[in-house]
Amino acid sequence: MKALILAGGKGTRLRPLTYAMAKQLVPVANKPILHYAMDGLYQGGIRDFGIIISPETGEAIKKSLQSWKKDDAELTFILQDEPAGLAHAVKIAKPYLQDDDFIMYLGDNLINADLGSHIAEFQQAKYEASILLRQVPNPSSFGVAELDGSGQVIRLVEKPKEPKSDLALVGVYLFTKQIFDAIDRIQPSWRGELEITDAIQRLIEDKAVVHSRVHTGWWLDTGKKDDLLAANNVVLGEYMNYLIEGDVDNASRLSGDVHVDEGAVIRNSTIQGPVMIGRNCRLENVTIGPFTSVGDDCTLRDCHIENSVLLEECHIESVPGRIEESLLGKGCRIIKSPTSQESHKFLLADHSEIQVL
Ligand code: G1P
Repeated sequence: MKALILAGGKGTRLRPLTYAMAKQLVPVANKPILHYAMDGLYQGGIRDFGIIISPETGEAIKKSLQSWKKDDAELTFILQDEPAGLAHAVKIAKPYLQDDDFIMYLGDNLINADLGSHIAEFQQAKYEASILLRQVPNPSSFGVAELDGSGQVIRLVEKPKEPKSDLALVGVYLFTKQIFDAIDRIQPSWRGELEITDAIQRLIEDKAVVHSRVHTGWWLDTGKKDDLLAANNVVLGEYMNYLIEGDVDNASRLSGDVHVDEGAVIRNSTIQGPVMIGRNCRLENVTIGPFTSVGDDCTLRDCHIENSVLLEECHIESVPGRIEESLLGKGCRIIKSPTSQESHKFLLADHSEIQVL
């Protein structure tokens, strides 16, 4: 069993962050989303990983995975020249996948599923395909499955205007080599992409056994800012433990699950977990948390931040009020204007968003 991880695409829904980085490398609790996918698959027994990359962000993905590499895991990178769809990605991965069964995983999804048992069931039962589904409040935003009374999948539709159920296709699929033949018989969708949903629908029409499993745990599609903040909350809430590796003075008050990484210095501050403070951060007179991840090498002084994700090297100083539900890219600076209390001064890249009083 191989894994095919999709780590290409443009990440338009996470702009402006994704002008500078791959959406799969945006961190949740200071760890790139893609690393959670790799960990989940590795724990599920996968050792042979094919990773689809794009020309724009492929090198960054490769570099990031150097810090993930396990001794017994083999990584093969496959370049997808254009974002022509999930089924197109499978098609170009054929020389790598050959005749092997494989698990396909969308690299911007976070899920707390036991992939090992999903894989074992697939192998024992000899299904032609198996999909993971989850109930969602907004099925029109996803691929949607229609099941019969016995739970058999009878139809799959990509982003239906009038969904027949609330069961969305989660970004985890198991396939045999039969999927290649189905992909050869589909046409691009209205968005110009070869949809994997359409290829699986072809399998169903061919009377192949397409099994489904409804996932009841959490699944987070980190495509947009609010989804990413929600993912950060869930991961911090579930996995963070109290661990102080940095230097915290006696004037600081820490409560709940707070992780202060090596080299971080905290002075006269209040931190309410779950919170993750990255390496070599400097915090003075601040209130942080709950549900906040601060990337490595950030400097925070005289400010209050909660429910937020800060990437590395951010500098926030003397900001009145509270910063909340915010997502800050690498090296962002927010400081009090030294000249006037009446005006705001901005230096923002395309698609930045600011909310002012
Ligand atoms: C893709 C799939 C869709 C699936 C979703 C899960 O959508 O086409 O069927 O439900 O991933 O995240 P996309 O993110 O390309 O819009």
